[in-house]
Amino acid sequence: MPTAEIADARDPIAIELAARIIRGGGLVAFPTETVYGLGADAGNPLAVARIFEVKQRPRIDPVIIHVADLAAARIYGRFPAWAPSVAQRFWPGPLTMVVERNQATPPIVTAGLDTVAIRVPAHAAALDLIRAAGCGIAAPSANLFGFVSPTTAAHVAEQLSDRIDLILDGGACSIGVESTIISTIGARPSLLRAGGIPLEELEEALGPIDISMDAVDRPQAPGQLKKHYATRTPLSITDRDSEESRRGEKTGLLTLTPPTEDSRYEATEILSSTGDLREAAANLFAALRRLDILGLDRIVARPVPESGLGRAIMDRLRRCAVRDE
Ligand code: TXA
Ligand code: MG
Repeated sequence: MPTAEIADARDPIAIELAARIIRGGGLVAFPTETVYGLGADAGNPLAVARIFEVKQRPRIDPVIIHVADLAAARIYGRFPAWAPSVAQRFWPGPLTMVVERNQATPPIVTAGLDTVAIRVPAHAAALDLIRAAGCGIAAPSANLFGFVSPTTAAHVAEQLSDRIDLILDGGACSIGVESTIISTIGARPSLLRAGGIPLEELEEALGPIDISMDAVDRPQAPGQLKKHYATRTPLSITDRDSEESRRGEKTGLLTLTPPTEDSRYEATEILSSTGDLREAAANLFAALRRLDILGLDRIVARPVPESGLGRAIMDRLRRCAVRDE
């Protein structure tokens, strides 16, 4: 396939073209507030199958359906009594809800599970595209399986441009980490993936939430796989400087705030000059990619506080730090 066109996501003609591609069974990468998605008509099993091929994604890894509102979400899944008020509060926004699957959701979307993950993205172009297409859009992050998610159209193009039909360019994603996933199955809500909505905000609305992010043996969400969101360069999370410098490795530093010590690093990425965790999350994946292309022996990441978006940042860094064993 020739290189995909990159079109301005604010252009109504581009949205109409993208919608036509989706309705025709094609694949369009589009911006959301979290990361770029690789979208197909959620009701078209062949189109969804192409997503798996293009991403080299295992068929056991279900994808999220993106809809414009709760009414559309109800076409694809069944919400328990307490869930709609949570959806109303956090949608549009970076919250994905896992609910019981309806017949309208093809099994390939859910990898054969009886549950389906659904969200309403808070991004004008994403909502315009969903409305113009007139269907739910099944979309994983628009990267090859296991790699860092894309937060710009250029990131998408680097990995997927010769395999998909169109890339809508909406600039850099404002949140920068994937949606928070909660399961509504079971007696109490549970957290399957830390993400763009801080756990604290969810617990304020929902009361205590069980955390089941580390189901390693049979992951409910491959975002739960131990190794995921990975750079090619080995990454370690550490507070100390001594070991990496003593080995004389070519090392890059990923840090929340500007380092105080003299830098012995080949390159330094500062996630937020003021230590703001939202800003840091928005910069995280692009910073990892910039470090990853420098041919370093190692990336050293300084831990960030595990509150607010810091929880999602640390989760991604930990999964990135796991190497093949
Ligand atoms: O922010 C996001 O969520 C982005 C944008 C594009 O919306 N999407 C995204 O998709 O991160 P993906 O496929 O990279 O991650 C979706 C996660 C996977 O880990 C998948 O296993 C999980 O959602 N998931 C999907 N359906 C599920 C289900 N029925 N039960 C449990 N987990 C599910
Ligand atoms: Mg992904």
